[in-house]
Amino acid sequence: MSKALLLKDITKRFPLVLANDRISLDLEWGEVLALVGENGAGKSTLMKIVYGLQPADEGEMWVDGKPYKPRSPQDAIRAGIGMVHQHFMLVEPFTVLENLVLGLEPGSPLFLNLEMAREKAQRLMEELGFQVPLDEKIENLPVGLQQRVEILKALYREARILILDEPTAVLTPQEAEELFRFLRTYVAKGNAVIFISHKLKEVLEVSDRITVVRDGRVVGTVRTEETTLEALARMMVGREVVLRVEKGPARPKEVVLEVEGLEAPPRLKGVSFSVRAGEIVGIAGVEGNGQTELVEALTGLRRYRGVARYLGKPLPPSAREVRALLVSHIPEDRLARGLVLDFSVRENAILGDQHRPPFRGFLGFLDEGAMEAHARALVEEFDVRPRSTELSARRFSGGNQQKIVVGRELLRGPRLLIAAQPTRGVDVGAIEFIHKELVAARDRGLAVLLVSADLSEILALSDRILVMYGGRIMGELTPQEATEERLGLLMAGISA
Ligand SMILES: Nc1ncnc2c1ncn2[C@@H]1O[C@H](COP(=O)(O)OP(=O)(O)OP(=O)(O)O)[C@@H](O)[C@H]1O
Ligand SMILES: [Mg+2]
Repeated sequence: MSKALLLKDITKRFPLVLANDRISLDLEWGEVLALVGENGAGKSTLMKIVYGLQPADEGEMWVDGKPYKPRSPQDAIRAGIGMVHQHFMLVEPFTVLENLVLGLEPGSPLFLNLEMAREKAQRLMEELGFQVPLDEKIENLPVGLQQRVEILKALYREARILILDEPTAVLTPQEAEELFRFLRTYVAKGNAVIFISHKLKEVLEVSDRITVVRDGRVVGTVRTEETTLEALARMMVGREVVLRVEKGPARPKEVVLEVEGLEAPPRLKGVSFSVRAGEIVGIAGVEGNGQTELVEALTGLRRYRGVARYLGKPLPPSAREVRALLVSHIPEDRLARGLVLDFSVRENAILGDQHRPPFRGFLGFLDEGAMEAHARALVEEFDVRPRSTELSARRFSGGNQQKIVVGRELLRGPRLLIAAQPTRGVDVGAIEFIHKELVAARDRGLAVLLVSADLSEILALSDRILVMYGGRIMGELTPQEATEERLGLLMAGISA
């Protein structure tokens, strides 16, 4: 039987990197093939070539045994390939149903007939075992549902090969489980899936085979049942990765942040807690339980009621003033809040600090020398690849964009760091590094408020754990007390 997809010697060069270096791989019908590798290894680049978003410089492809050379995603769709991107590409002010038909060829009978489209979408959802409200606007849907829309859109176009680029980065564990169930059903019907993820546990759970890429090249392909987490991490990074964070007990000092009865619409209903210098306080909880509002209130991005004190004084009302007091913020959405994609690394590296020395120099002009030195230090220390300070943020892989944000926020020497999903989309080696940096900063006296949907991250880093549910804090646990079971119950809103 023909392979679903066969790639031979695919090569893609960018000005500073060889993103894909003679990559060959094959995908069988009926399987989930995982594609893993470090940030910048070339995974998204390769998949964009398969989906017709950019041409390969060299190499050949076959779909179901037929030569395949897409010039656009339309060609990919016609060949039965669908893709869910690392960053969603839905049209926000439109409804789900409109998004489904959007971009269909005008000749297609479903192009203008929304009622026929609705029927087809209903039928698909029943078959697949999931639901999305078809008449809701995309902008009103939580990310988990937006992703279902992306999948539905691909299946609506009759995709038999589905490419998912980091589909679970924004999902809750429950949503991820649902996605995996769907993927297994989908391939059981004879379809095929390429699944990209940095969450190696999930990769081991959902895939049949795993192809590992490093520096644009295929390192090897293994059968999932024949490998382990450690072996996989080693293959990816090319060295041993310490999957556990080494950290001594915290030595908390003065109270840096104190909040009482903090409320912020729509979902934060009143929380009280404090964070001291030299400790990491983790906020666990399923996303959408008020964490976003909490973080935005504390960083001056959202109005709130109640009390928030920083070093004993009321927190100032604007983001700029909060930032000037050496409060750093790693935002949950690096594209919306963390980076200006068309700015260079050099500009992004001082974002929010451009009004202050050493960057604001003589007569108020930006000091190019100081900016360059700072950006250089950032890309070196945080292993941003490629090591360019000139390149615009857009040109970096997802994980490397995240490293730029994390580096900028830590290097400015904050007293308080509010970190939301700090390692989202980052590879295992870089997670190890960022975690070490956070612990080292704590030991130098930084107060850290860590908000993460990733339980293993909360457990690895936190000195105290607060669990949020329904806009309130359900309970506080020490890391020793925090078994997955106790956390799980609190996260579901059930207190002891
Ligand atoms: N349009 C572009 N211009 C210049 N360089 C690019 C462009 N797109 C990608 N690159 C570079 O190609 C390399 C591979 O990037 P790619 O996005 O494929 O990595 P990835 O494996 O998906 O990483 P991540 O896990 O971080 O998402 C990176 O070094 C990236 O900076
Ligand atoms: Mg990528």
